[in-house]
Parts: sequence; structure tokens; C-alpha cells
Amino acid sequence: MNKFPENFLWGSAVSGHQIEGNNEHSDWWHWELATEGQQTSGKAVDHWNRFEEDHDLLVEMGHEAFRFGLEWARIEPRRGEFDSAAIDQYRRMLQSLRDRGIKVCLTLHHWVLPQWVSEQNDWRNPDTVEQFLRYVDFAVQEFAEFPDLWITLNEPMVASLAGNLSGDFPPQRRSIFACRQVSRNMLRAHAGAYRIIHQHCPEARVGLAMAYPHLEGWGTPGPEGWYERLAVWFGKKVVYEAWDRSLETGRFHPLFGWGVVDGLRDSIDFCGINYYFRMTPRFSLRHPRSGFLDPAALPEGVETNDFQWQIWPEGIRHIIDEVWNRFRKPIFITENGIADRDDSKRGAYIVNHLHQLHQAIQEGIPVEGYFHWSFIDNFEWKEGFEMKFGLVEVDLEDPDLARRPRPSAGLYSRIIRNRGPLETDA
Ligand code: BGC
Repeated sequence: MNKFPENFLWGSAVSGHQIEGNNEHSDWWHWELATEGQQTSGKAVDHWNRFEEDHDLLVEMGHEAFRFGLEWARIEPRRGEFDSAAIDQYRRMLQSLRDRGIKVCLTLHHWVLPQWVSEQNDWRNPDTVEQFLRYVDFAVQEFAEFPDLWITLNEPMVASLAGNLSGDFPPQRRSIFACRQVSRNMLRAHAGAYRIIHQHCPEARVGLAMAYPHLEGWGTPGPEGWYERLAVWFGKKVVYEAWDRSLETGRFHPLFGWGVVDGLRDSIDFCGINYYFRMTPRFSLRHPRSGFLDPAALPEGVETNDFQWQIWPEGIRHIIDEVWNRFRKPIFITENGIADRDDSKRGAYIVNHLHQLHQAIQEGIPVEGYFHWSFIDNFEWKEGFEMKFGLVEVDLEDPDLARRPRPSAGLYSRIIRNRGPLETDA
């Protein structure tokens, strides 16, 4: 059996907007309502009102830790107005987890902004950094006693790229200039949030949850193959290396601009890895719009999830090595999971990724915990509710929104109890 260390932390993750429901003062809420063909988050799985039932389930499933987030739009629905009812509700959630002995990893920002921030040009506006830090200062003072781990920003690269370059997410810009500006301001926001959390809680452990896809060229022979490798080299820079380099050096990576950011250097106490899939872009004359590369090219025999993302457990090991070699800080897997409606692949997905983690630990890399994405079915952004990431299933047609742990949830509980997968689980 692959026994994990006794103090390895087992849990799962969610974000506020994706499960709470009725996040009415947020930019996403407004965007969902205004966008034709977009499914709205509505009451989602109503975690806002059913959190105790969900926390009981976490206990039943043997979880030791839970990663969830605060919604800035609930805490500060209008500029400078802090909503005491929302704050009390978050305190009840945190207390409820504490009462059940579940450790908390708290995310301060997971892509969603208050609508008033979006109306002031969101992260393009340097004032948003100021406002964000005021919210962080407020939230940290309110909730300082609860989290064991803090995440300042979730995948800022995805918010920045999808919101400003590809135009997939609100505010749907398509501008390299905007994307760079937003990235710079998010880095400033992270550095400021790191400082504030440590001011109030010197012992706090603070990190970012970063998106790390595993990118590899398709391997076409000849010049096309060179082109694929060049694209991968550049893709990595854009997606995560430019962010990591900026954190490492405290200066903006040239892709973002120039200049030193106060407090950015060394502003993480651990590395948060969100890992889902591998991509193998293939040279193709039929894809002029994506630079003559087919980003979804699928090698024969490779399994996929419901999104057609490649399932590639070895990728998590490559990423762990890369992150460890860069930062030499403890690592938490802050997200790893699969869209798998009929739950036929989730169990093996978990086991196979855990094997990779175990090997890394055996070789001396301090991987300290694993948060499976997701605890429960959730609002998958642009895809609405079609994609099912939950260990726990919720039928949205059911007026009671009854929670039903999928078979893979049972397997994961057993893994936690055994402190690792059994050989027979593989
Ligand atoms: C995000 C989650 C999302 C998941 C699956 C991650 O990048 O942080 O919010 O649900 O991917 O797409």
C-alpha cells in the first residue's frame, strides 16, 4: 500500500459562487443574466443555506480539510458597505467546520468580483487593488482565527486570460494590453494580501492556487515538430511560468511589463497546484485561427473526461517537480478532479494521481495535502451545470436538492481512512 505520511491533509475543494447560490451582487451573476444562451448559477446547490448538511457529509466522508472561498460581492455588495448578515453567515460556516474538526483552506478571491468593481473597469483599474486590499484587511480581521491555510487568489492567470484575451469569461475583452494590465494588478493584489494576512496573523500559511496544465508537443517529425515545441515553450510562459517567475523575482515578467512589485518576492509560504489535464497541441493547417495548432489533438488510446480533457496522471508529477525545483516550498494540491457524469472514471483518476503524489513524497518532495475538486456538483462557469465534478451528486431538478455521494466518494473515504490507496484500488 502507498501509505501517506500521518500529517498529510486529505480534503476537497469548492468555491463560493459555484455552490452557494444567489451571489446577486457579483459580476458573474450580472453577466450570466445578460448573456444569451448562458445558464445562470441561480441557487446552485444552495450551499449558502445547506452548509451544515454539507459539513456533516464531509465528516461522514472522513475529510480532514475543506477548501472554500469567501465572495467579496457578498461581503461588500456596495463600495464601502460591508454586509453584516453575510459576514455572520461566513462566520457560522467557519465555526461549523471547526466544530466538526475540519481544517480550513480559505480562498479570498476565486475569479468573481462585486458588480461595482466590474463597473469601475475591474482589475484594469489600479483602484481595484486598493479596494481589494481593504476587503482583505476586513476579512482577515474578521476571520483570522479560523483558516489553517490561506489562498489569496485562485488561478489569476485563468481570470486574466479568459476575461481579457480569449473573451470567454466576463468582461469578455480581447486585448493583450488589458490582459497585461490585469495580470500586473492581480500580482500587486496578491503581494498586498500576503502582507496583510501576515500582519494580522504572523504564523499564517499563505499561498496562491495556480493553474498548471501539463503541456507537451504532439511530436510531429520535422519542422512542424519544432513549431509544436516552440508553441509549448511559449504556452507555458503565458499560462504559468511568467507568473511563477514574477513571484520568484519580485519583478514583473517581461510578458507583463517592467518594474518591481513591493512585497511580491517570496510572497508564498506554500505552493498551491491546481492540476487537471495534459494538452498536446498538434501542427495543423486546418487551424489557422489558433496559430496552425490543434489544441485539442488527442493521441490514440488516451482517456478523456467529459470535457475531452486528457487524463494524464504523470503530468501532476512533472508539475510537482517543476514547482518544487523553482520554489523549494511545501506543496498542496489545491485542486485535482474530473468532469465525469457517470462516475465511471473518477475513482481511477483519484488513485492514479495519488500514486504520483506518493512517489514524489517518497523522493523527498514535501507534498503536504490533497484537495479533490470538487466536493459537490457545481456551477462550472461558462458550461453551466452540465459538467459534473462532484464527489457528491446533486440533481438540480429535485426540489430538495438531495445530496448523494457517488461511488468514488466512498472510495476516496476509504483511501483517507487507510491513508493511501490499496494496491487493489489501482
Ligand atoms: C477552477 C474551478 C473549476 C475547475 C474545473 C479550475 O480551474 O479553479 O473553479 O471549476 O477548474 O474546470
